[in-house]
Amino acid sequence: MPVKNVALLGFMGCGKTTVGRLLAKKLGFSFLDTDSLIEEKSGLSIPQIFELFGEEHFRNLEGQVLKEVMFREKLVLSTGGGLPVKDENWEILKKRFLTVFIEVPFEILWKRIASDSGRPLLRRYPRKELLKGLYLERLSRYRQADVIISAGRLTPEEIAEAIIKHAQFDC
Ligand code: S3P
Repeated sequence: MPVKNVALLGFMGCGKTTVGRLLAKKLGFSFLDTDSLIEEKSGLSIPQIFELFGEEHFRNLEGQVLKEVMFREKLVLSTGGGLPVKDENWEILKKRFLTVFIEVPFEILWKRIASDSGRPLLRRYPRKELLKGLYLERLSRYRQADVIISAGRLTPEEIAEAIIKHAQFDC
């Protein structure tokens, strides 16, 4: 069956947003990013939401925005790195989207994200080995995706093309 919606999953820094935009353009689909939707909805940045209301509140907002977009069609959705972890979110993703895990080795991710002040989770996991623990915890969920792209050495353009090769899209 042709794919109507795609959700990109993966750890911070794997390129979901860049790849998502490119993929949507190639497919003629719309593009949405759950973090941006949350920022628009709340009028606050992600770090501000963590700081003012805490992670649990942020996770609730993630669930809400996913429910708001789940019935859209011809959509590429870039999901926050922690969104697929919640079982309720995972059920929605599996039912409504082709799930695509952009798999990038932790060492590469760490180089990309270590100095990024816009990532509140780095406060909770301030050392490389702590963040790696979170990455490893999440891998088993990410690996349940319909499509896994080994993206460590690929450009965003190549990742988008690899996703297109893996599925027949409704475009
Ligand atoms: C998070 C990842 C971030 C953002 C928030 C929490 C996580 O999104 O949702 O800072 O739990 O991994 P990206 O994966 O798009 O960076």
